[in-house]
Amino acid sequence: MDKKLFLLFIFSAVLVCIEAEPLEDKQALLDFLHNINHSPHFNWDENSSVCQTWRGVTCNTDGSRVIAIRLPGAGLSGPIPPNTLNRLSALETVSLRSNGITGDFPDGFSELKNLTSLYLQSNKFSGPLPLDFSVWSNLSIVNFSNNSFNGSIPISISNLTHLYSLVLANNSLSGKIPDLNIPSLKEMNLANNNLSGVVPKSLLRFPSWVFSGNNLTSENSTLSPAFPMHPPYTLPPKKTKGLSKTALLGIIIGVCALGFAVIAVVMILCCYDYAAAGVKESVKSKKKDVSMKAESSASRDKNKIVFFEDCNLAFDLEDLLRASAEILGRGTFGTTYKAAIEDATTVAVKRLKEVTVGKREFEQQMELIGKIKHENVDALRAYYYSKDEKLVVSDYYQQGSVSSILHGNRGERRTPVDWDSRLRIAIGAARGIAHIHTQQGGKLVHGNIKASNIFLNSHGYGCVSDTGLAVLMSSVPSPGTRASGYRAPEVTDTRKAVHSSDVYSFGVLLLELLTGKSPIYSLEGEQNIHLVRWVNSVVREEWTAEVFDVELLRYSNIEEEMVEMLQIGMACAARMPDQRPKMSEVVRMVEGIRPENRPSSTESRSEVSTPTVYAT
Ligand SMILES: *[C@@H]1O[C@H](CO)[C@@H](O)[C@H](O)[C@H]1NC(C)=O
Ligand SMILES: *[C@@H]1O[C@H](CO)[C@@H](O)[C@H](O)[C@H]1NC(C)=O
Ligand SMILES: *[C@@H]1O[C@H](CO)[C@@H](O)[C@H](O)[C@H]1NC(C)=O
Ligand SMILES: *[C@@H]1O[C@H](CO)[C@@H](O)[C@H](O)[C@H]1NC(C)=O
Ligand SMILES: *[C@@H]1O[C@H](CO)[C@@H](O)[C@H](O)[C@H]1NC(C)=O
Ligand SMILES: *[C@@H]1O[C@H](CO)[C@@H](O)[C@H](O)[C@H]1NC(C)=O
Ligand SMILES: *[C@@H]1O[C@H](CO)[C@@H](O)[C@H](O)[C@H]1NC(C)=O
Ligand SMILES: *[C@@H]1O[C@H](CO)[C@@H](O)[C@H](O)[C@H]1NC(C)=O
Ligand SMILES: *[C@@H]1O[C@H](CO)[C@@H](O)[C@H](O)[C@H]1NC(C)=O
Ligand SMILES: *[C@@H]1O[C@H](CO)[C@@H](O)[C@H](O)[C@H]1NC(C)=O
Ligand SMILES: *[C@@H]1O[C@H](CO)[C@@H](O)[C@H](O)[C@H]1NC(C)=O
Repeated sequence: MDKKLFLLFIFSAVLVCIEAEPLEDKQALLDFLHNINHSPHFNWDENSSVCQTWRGVTCNTDGSRVIAIRLPGAGLSGPIPPNTLNRLSALETVSLRSNGITGDFPDGFSELKNLTSLYLQSNKFSGPLPLDFSVWSNLSIVNFSNNSFNGSIPISISNLTHLYSLVLANNSLSGKIPDLNIPSLKEMNLANNNLSGVVPKSLLRFPSWVFSGNNLTSENSTLSPAFPMHPPYTLPPKKTKGLSKTALLGIIIGVCALGFAVIAVVMILCCYDYAAAGVKESVKSKKKDVSMKAESSASRDKNKIVFFEDCNLAFDLEDLLRASAEILGRGTFGTTYKAAIEDATTVAVKRLKEVTVGKREFEQQMELIGKIKHENVDALRAYYYSKDEKLVVSDYYQQGSVSSILHGNRGERRTPVDWDSRLRIAIGAARGIAHIHTQQGGKLVHGNIKASNIFLNSHGYGCVSDTGLAVLMSSVPSPGTRASGYRAPEVTDTRKAVHSSDVYSFGVLLLELLTGKSPIYSLEGEQNIHLVRWVNSVVREEWTAEVFDVELLRYSNIEEEMVEMLQIGMACAARMPDQRPKMSEVVRMVEGIRPENRPSSTESRSEVSTPTVYAT
């Protein structure tokens, strides 16, 4: 072998490596990591490319500087090591939220002059806030909530002319609230500190809950001390009528170039093709390539991803782009992907196929669905519409859908689903559907109730997803498929679904919970069996006990409750639409199966009722 040639090869390989790396930034990050406690999941390998493989790190387009680090929930603890992160002078976004970081606000951060977003919430920072905020002239998002910062709120914050969001809640800040006359400030929360004095005039435009939990003197009735501490589900800026979606987006994710939407789509396509094959590395390099091309052409593209809640999740399209995606399922309306963003946030992205409506109608429907905030209705986080691609982004549920919980993994290794869980699923789903039916002046229809569209919320109650997508689609589940078993007999086109057909589908869901059987199933060699017909025939022949899932037979004293649910399910799945109960009645009936589930006190009710909306 030619030794010279070999050396040359090595040399040029090293050279390429060096060229592509912001070496000083890399070293600063390594110094940071090696001097702080962290979770073992970091893939920050000194021999791999910081821009292309290090999780939570984003470089600028030419790969010459690190411009964002996002390490939420990365198990960091202890103080930020001095002289580390401050060397990353091109940083624009820093997210260290939900770690266990202690100590004072790092002095060195004042060197990060390009900072626009600083998320330090839910750590154990203490001591005073930085005195001079004016060093970060472009700072627009500040979330320091849920720490132990003390001292007063520095007046220098009023110098931040680009400030959009200031969240300092849940600290020990004291003293007077400074007069922050910042027109761009759209979101603020100072609740649960030890602030005193009065609310300055410039901030009276904010709802009173953002000042609650302080020792403020209420000069006017606008600030009632007894005001409920619980903020509304909807963030105030969203309600500002004068602010168009586009403008809002611009403010919230000002840094996101228009082109990211296109990139996200491309990324999803890439992952679709490659992730399954496990060719992770090639995906990454491929992503890089397309992103460069997409950015230039995309500036002409008027389509953008539209978010319903702002950086609450602290993800943007750039994150989506970096996320690794995996297919969760293919449904009637399209394929759903799981996209893991950063370390902590995972979302479900659905690519809709066969959307039959135009852009305006699509957007109107999305806006409507996006407004629904209910603990039993899966929140729509964002959507995207272009000629070729329609996406909806919603929460990801780790446990999977009720369908997979009920039918998945039958066999030895299965954990049975107990009766209480099934009741909670039924109650939650009923409440969610009933709430959907009150929307749009009582006209909104879900149109696609089925077990694979029901998930469990954090309390283990059913939570309904895919709301209102049916009217946008032309697809009808093909006969004989599981999905077709939920369709009311009179519905021939998903777009024609009405409240009573949702009730039918919910009835099928109840029967499914009771029997453990799919709405359409077949025994070997036999024709498809339709669950509703089968249950009806068994009950008619007075073999009622035969219908129940064998898994449920191990629990005692539930027979009466099961029979009651069976009756509700059959009433809902009545053949004639006008014989079916209204969804609001169904909620009462299902809650009544076990009296303790009835919302007797205001406490459990307030959780499910429509949240108050503040006009600011
Ligand atoms: C990186 O590469 C060098 C030289 O090949 C090697 O000595 C070192 O152990 C590697 N480091 C890691 C973390 O793999
Ligand atoms: C800060 O941002 C500006 C504009 O994006 C850029 O020109 C400048 O180089 C950045 N500063 C540093 C230190 O990277
Ligand atoms: C602030 O942002 C503007 C435009 O994004 C940029 O030109 C400027 O350099 C930034 N200033 C600083 C101090 O980063
Ligand atoms: C506040 O931070 C603590 C840890 O410091 C965390 O356990 C808790 O969930 C956080 N609360 C909120 C509302 O983020
Ligand atoms: C403040 O703490 C309360 C109670 O732990 C929590 O419910 C609330 O979400 C927190 N708010 C913020 C902004 O962290
Ligand atoms: C802030 O807390 C520290 C202890 O963590 C204390 O020494 C200091 O006096 C406090 N400052 C104020 C203004 O309360
Ligand atoms: C605002 O910034 C200017 C200089 O940029 C400085 O002179 C002034 O003191 C700052 N104001 C406050 C309240 O910090
Ligand atoms: C709140 O401030 C008052 C004085 O304004 C002080 O006496 C009190 O100890 C403070 N409480 C907390 C929890 O810091
Ligand atoms: C609330 O503020 C008043 C004066 O503004 C003070 O007298 C009182 O001690 C404060 N209460 C608490 C709990 O800090
Ligand atoms: C209190 O309200 C009255 C009228 O509602 C107004 O004239 C007055 O200026 C307000 N006072 C303060 C301190 O905001
Ligand atoms: C700020 O952090 C709190 C957690 O303490 C979170 O509940 C809230 O949504 C965050 N707000 C923004 C605007 O990031």
